[in-house]
Amino acid sequence: MNSVDELLAMDLRGGDDDWTPTPHGAWLARMIASHDLIQGKDVLELGAGLANHTILLQRKGAKSIVATEVTESLLGATRENFERHCGADTGLELRVANWLHTHGEFDLIVSNPPFCQSGKQNRRYFIDSLILDAFHRLRPGGELIFVQSSMADIQLTRDMLDRNGFGVTELGRTSGPFRDYYFEDATFMEEIETVEGGYEERDGVKYETLVAFHAKLRDWSPPATAHLPGQTE
Ligand SMILES: C[S@@+](CC[C@H](N)C(=O)[O-])C[C@H]1O[C@@H](n2cnc3c(N)ncnc32)[C@H](O)[C@@H]1O
Repeated sequence: MNSVDELLAMDLRGGDDDWTPTPHGAWLARMIASHDLIQGKDVLELGAGLANHTILLQRKGAKSIVATEVTESLLGATRENFERHCGADTGLELRVANWLHTHGEFDLIVSNPPFCQSGKQNRRYFIDSLILDAFHRLRPGGELIFVQSSMADIQLTRDMLDRNGFGVTELGRTSGPFRDYYFEDATFMEEIETVEGGYEERDGVKYETLVAFHAKLRDWSPPATAHLPGQTE
């Protein structure tokens, strides 16, 4: 299985409560399929949904995969889709976990973080949290691969990644029309007006840009005098 289209070919099934993959997930998948960043790595996937990325991580040769969802019932569709494509004895571990509140150390974290429907006052919460706290779950030199919209502020993400010790590259960007549900959230539509370059309008149609980021922790250790958790003075 080699071509990008073969890697991306999937028959995904889910119920009404499951997250049906959107162009964000599709773009992240295409970027994962077209780069060699997965082979031999221990991967933590946050918010696995219908397993669209989980299946791909397996096909791309991840050494191990832990995939999370926020409830046990959401993990049902993750398991079903994954096993139908990859079999039941791959060693995949499915966990209920609230974002990064889980255990273990990984080489790579992959996610399509909630944004428009994050349900947080800071709509970027899951992106910010990933940038600030992923290091707890990453080995030295650990990596992030995630996708976000221009409406979540691409430059802010780049600046925050840099400030928090990550070297960052873009795997690729694409553009697409707004999803219908954006217009149903008046606050969201107001918020995006404050983001520079958040969207473009062409012929009366609003378009967002989707960026797949690859970030890697730089070598760094805190100074000996730093106040670290659990340390006595
Ligand atoms: C944008 S969807 C992405 C789903 C799938 N990975 C995809 O790309 O199609 C975000 C996913 O994160 C899950 N999620 C929401 N809050 C979460 C949390 N606190 N911890 C883990 N996952 C969460 C949602 O259930 C949903 O499946």
